Amino acid sequence: MSSRNPLAGLNGANAQTAQYFYERSFEWRKHMKRRIPALLAVLLTVTVSFGGLASANAKDATQLNDLEIAHVAYTAGVIDIRYAHLAMALSQNEDVRKFAETMLRDHTAVNVQALALVKKLNITPQDNDVSRELVKNSNALVAELRTLDGAAFDKRYAGNELGYHRFVNGALEKIFIPNARNSDLKALLKAGLKVFKVHQKHAEMMAKAVN
Ligand SMILES: [Fe+2]
Repeated sequence: MSSRNPLAGLNGANAQTAQYFYERSFEWRKHMKRRIPALLAVLLTVTVSFGGLASANAKDATQLNDLEIAHVAYTAGVIDIRYAHLAMALSQNEDVRKFAETMLRDHTAVNVQALALVKKLNITPQDNDVSRELVKNSNALVAELRTLDGAAFDKRYAGNELGYHRFVNGALEKIFIPNARNSDLKALLKAGLKVFKVHQKHAEMMAKAVN
């Protein structure tokens, strides 16, 4: 890495966040056990109330450095995988289950790439207010989803996935990709956005199907 690389020499291990992922994402446990910094990942598909998040953190999101952008992306991916697991456990709807399977497959694949980049760059993504708000909102949504079943669950899940993809894709396109300085990170974010735009279309169809 060149000395101008904004990721070089930075460090920001966050034990609390690492513990969060360790406890919730079995897919990543092996990586955590190898002490690979837990958090890069690229985009998402979470299910959160994004309206408030978008306005509350719009200014903060534009100020994030590369390590923080990586953390946000990874966090969003983790959260969406968590929602997908919930959908697979609670929904009997074929459209919802197909969508959730796709989220599990694609976000896991992106996360593997993200972790490989973290290892290659020898960096530790940094926790930040945007990541923390994503996690906070997702915890509330998971609690709500667990109280639902049948069509009510499917509608809430589908609506949230659609809103989330719109929010995340917009943030990627307008904020994170333009602001990312490291070329590898920028490329990964761009690749993620391509996948997530397809997810957004898929979410639109799912939302129509369950309403
Ligand atoms: Fe997605």
